[in-house]
Amino acid sequence: MHRIAVIPGDGIGPEVIPVAVDVLEAVAAHRPGLDFEFEWHDYGAERYLRDGTGFPDAEREAIAERCDAIFLGAVGDPRVPGNEHARELILETRFKLDLYVNLRPCRLLDPRLCPLKDKGVDDVKFTVFRENTEGLYVGVGGVFKKGTADEVAIQSSVNTAKGVERILRAAYEFARMSGAKKVCMSDKSNALRYGHDIWQRSWKRIAAEYPEIQSSHLYIDVLAMQLVRVPEEFEVIVTSNLFGDIITDLGAALQGGLGVAASANLNPDRGIGMFEPVHGSAPDIAGRGIANPTASVLAAALMLESLGHPAEAALVEKAVESALREGATTADLGGSMDTAGARAYLLTEVARLASGM
Ligand code: NAD
Ligand code: IPM
Ligand code: MN
Repeated sequence: MHRIAVIPGDGIGPEVIPVAVDVLEAVAAHRPGLDFEFEWHDYGAERYLRDGTGFPDAEREAIAERCDAIFLGAVGDPRVPGNEHARELILETRFKLDLYVNLRPCRLLDPRLCPLKDKGVDDVKFTVFRENTEGLYVGVGGVFKKGTADEVAIQSSVNTAKGVERILRAAYEFARMSGAKKVCMSDKSNALRYGHDIWQRSWKRIAAEYPEIQSSHLYIDVLAMQLVRVPEEFEVIVTSNLFGDIITDLGAALQGGLGVAASANLNPDRGIGMFEPVHGSAPDIAGRGIANPTASVLAAALMLESLGHPAEAALVEKAVESALREGATTADLGGSMDTAGARAYLLTEVARLASGM
């Protein structure tokens, strides 16, 4: 039995996460050995505005002890200035549970979805290893003379030997295990003389330990260009926190948009992971029942895989592929379905695939 803490969050989170949970239930219904217990949590903007609760440390730790995974929708609400609750729910969970691997697969599941299809791009399949606990995200810095003409704002980038090495190693180990032949490390060491020189030195040392893997380096600006020019050239990309954030929205676009991009926050040693779509709370479409649930469903597939059920994860991915192939999709992918219609198609398809296995 897998116990999952579900936090739908804000905006479209509560519209898409229940679809993914229903998909997981549908898979489990056909697999006698697979069983989930979902515990639902109301953390998010409403709760924060009501009683000031973001995501208390004690509750996060208790969930980490009690549960096998956290399944998060999206957080962010224009009514919460600075999105303080989002920081506690996403960033502090990544930091405090030490989920240092942010694994973001970028797979073009249907060639028609690629915005570069007219340029002959039909095979995008790379995985980004984004460092998830350091860099510019750590909140080290401060302001001086705030609100005056002399204001100083400092936001420091933290790069530790341990932190850089472990994400590089995770990317290379993944390449080795998955049979990928190439790893590309991306930084901005030509400008960031201290913070990214440590990436250069660690990378050279670790790359040498994997002689069977073709290692390359691109500065992040060039990587952004190459991902648009020749995305099919990439297999595994490893980079720092902020760069990984930016490059994975680009990767999402290559797959068909934020509606299909999924993400896993992992600590290979500790066990518990947090799974989420790459997209945010999408306030511009929230409440209309038109959000694409695919990213959350694919995040659920990542969760299945991480919990030790690769065949079931593949089944969910197959159901998504059928939906894309048949055009059984929401409007962001060119379909005419709403969230409920997309859900119904996926549930039928999961049941069909599962009973045929
Ligand atoms: P966003 O990802 O929420 O939306 C960007 C665009 O993509 C919007 O036009 C939106 O309608 C569209 N979109 C996103 N997901 C979609 C889906 N499933 N189906 C159809 N269309 C979809 O990014 P944003 O607008 O910059 O951010 C909104 C809020 O979400 C902000 O508060 C931001 O901080 C937060 N955010 C949260 C997360 C997270 O919880 N993991 C991630 C990114 C942004
Ligand atoms: C993501 C999001 C978050 C990030 C935000 C909401 C803090 O954009 O998960 O990609 O920057 O990591
Ligand atoms: Mn992002």
